[in-house]
Formats: sequence, structure tokens, C-alpha cells
Amino acid sequence: MPRLNTKICIVTGAARGIGAAIARAFAREGATVLVTDKDKGGAADIAREIGGEAMRLDVASEPDWAALAEAWPECDVLVNNAGVTGFEANSRPHDPETASLEDWRAVHAVNLDGTFLECRYGIRAMRPRGAGSIINISSRSGLVGIPAAAAYASSKAAVRNHTKSVALYCAEQGLNIRCNSIHPAAVLTPMWEPMLGTGPDREARMAAFVADTPLRRFGDPDEVAALAVMLASDEAAYMSGAELNIDGGLLAGSAAAPKRE
Ligand SMILES: NC(=O)c1ccc[n+]([C@@H]2O[C@H](COP(=O)([O-])OP(=O)(O)OC[C@H]3O[C@@H](n4cnc5c(N)ncnc54)[C@H](O)[C@@H]3O)[C@@H](O)[C@H]2O)c1
Repeated sequence: MPRLNTKICIVTGAARGIGAAIARAFAREGATVLVTDKDKGGAADIAREIGGEAMRLDVASEPDWAALAEAWPECDVLVNNAGVTGFEANSRPHDPETASLEDWRAVHAVNLDGTFLECRYGIRAMRPRGAGSIINISSRSGLVGIPAAAAYASSKAAVRNHTKSVALYCAEQGLNIRCNSIHPAAVLTPMWEPMLGTGPDREARMAAFVADTPLRRFGDPDEVAALAVMLASDEAAYMSGAELNIDGGLLAGSAAAPKRE
């Protein structure tokens, strides 16, 4: 029996990377999947591939969420996956001393305002059913300080916290709407391409990025998707307000890291 049979599942930022992997996994488990992204063509491609539906949605746009609520007033599962590092458009510094307020706000507008709008829509869309699962993709960066990407780290820490407020609010309301956060570390997606490049030193760069990861490799988007399937399914009925790390052991502690050659 497919684990998400009959469930209506909406995934944001699902035109590529982790979001696309989650959309594919949900479809394999029998869900009706709405693939959303600010990249309309990319979302349509994934929807065609998995037999789902597509809609353009910029998670930072309140009117876009209103349009989604109009078209899809109810759902069972909502994955808030869309996110930006802030380095997509330019490589200006994001450290606490020299970052601009404009860059700081741009990252929070997508990662944090987007999460607020997503959860608000999710609670309203799940209330008629009295149940559902909201999954917020935070990051390992939301659990530790990242000096060179302070805005990203701050926004992802706020995603973690808001997840817990939403979980408690829904419980207080007598709703069986669960809300949990997933915290990936380095997962190989197009987000990494500008940092890895295509040159002969690509392999060395990849090895350097995961040198401190106990399992010494990047994660695969399908591995994050497997966790999302579990949280979306009724198997996770007693999980709410939880944070799940998927990081190759990175956050287990530096003292636990294997010895280097
Ligand atoms: N890849 C990693 O190593 C990693 C690690 C930790 C957390 N994450 C988080 O996982 C999520 C997915 O990351 P990814 O690596 O797949 O990224 P990605 O850059 O490969 O894909 C992100 C997708 O989100 C879309 N998007 C960007 N801004 C949007 C907006 N305002 N509205 C709607 N869609 C928007 C993009 O068009 C793209 O399709 C992000 O929240 C990211 O912060 C990723």
C-alpha cells in the first residue's frame, strides 16, 4: 500500500534539487502532488514527469499564497522547501560586520517570511480536515553560527523556531496538524554548482567541503526526500515540533569525528 495514498501534497521550490526529489518521492507513494516554484517552466517539467500539477508560487509573495489558497483551498501535506543562500545573484559578503541590510532582508524575505506565509496557508488549508503535516526545510546552518552566511543561518534558525510555535499552536487548537523541521547539511543539488565549478579541481573541492563530515560525502536529495515521506505519512503521527538532522553525522559533535589520516 503506498504510504501517501489519497493525500494532497504541495511542495515549494520543487523545480529542482531537494524539492524535486521530494515531489518525485511523494508521487511514488501515491500522493496527488502540486509542484510549485517561482520557476514556472521548471515546476511544469517536474509535474509532467511525475503526473502531478504545477503552479508558479514565489514563497515571499503574499498575493501568490492567496492565489494558491483560491486554487487549492485544502491539502494534507505541505513542504516548505524553497530557500536561498543569498549568493545566487551576487557574491557580496554576508558576514555580520559588512553585510548590507538589503541583502540581509532579501534572504529573510524568502526563507523566513516565506515560512510564515507557508505555515499560515497550511494551517488554514488543513483545518477543514482537522489534520495534516507541515514540513519545513531548515538547515544544519540553523543550528550553528555561520559567519560567512550570517543571514542564511539566522533565517534557518528562525525556521526551526517557527516550526515549534506552529506545532504548539495547532495542538492548542485541538488540531492534529503536525509541524516538523528537517535540517540537512551538504546535499548535492544545483545550489552547490557555483561553488564546485566544472574544472579539474571539482573533485578536490567536493572532498574539501565534506572533509569535516564523519560520513565524508555529500548527501543525496533522495535521502532528504525519504525523511520527508516519513514525516508526511501517518507513520509519524506522534511527531510534532521535532527537528531532524540529516547531515552525515556532522552535528554529532567534533569530539565524535573520526580521526583524519
Ligand atoms: N543543498 C544543500 O546542501 C542544503 C543544505 C541545507 C538546507 N538546504 C535547504 O534545502 C532547500 C532546497 O535546497 P536545494 O539545495 O534543493 O536548492 P536549489 O537552489 O537547488 O533549489 C531551490 C529551488 O527553490 C526555488 N526558489 C528559490 N527562491 C524561491 C522563491 N522565492 N519562491 C519559490 N521558489 C523559489 C528555485 O527556483 C529552485 O527551484 C532550501 O531551503 C535550502 O536552504 C539545502
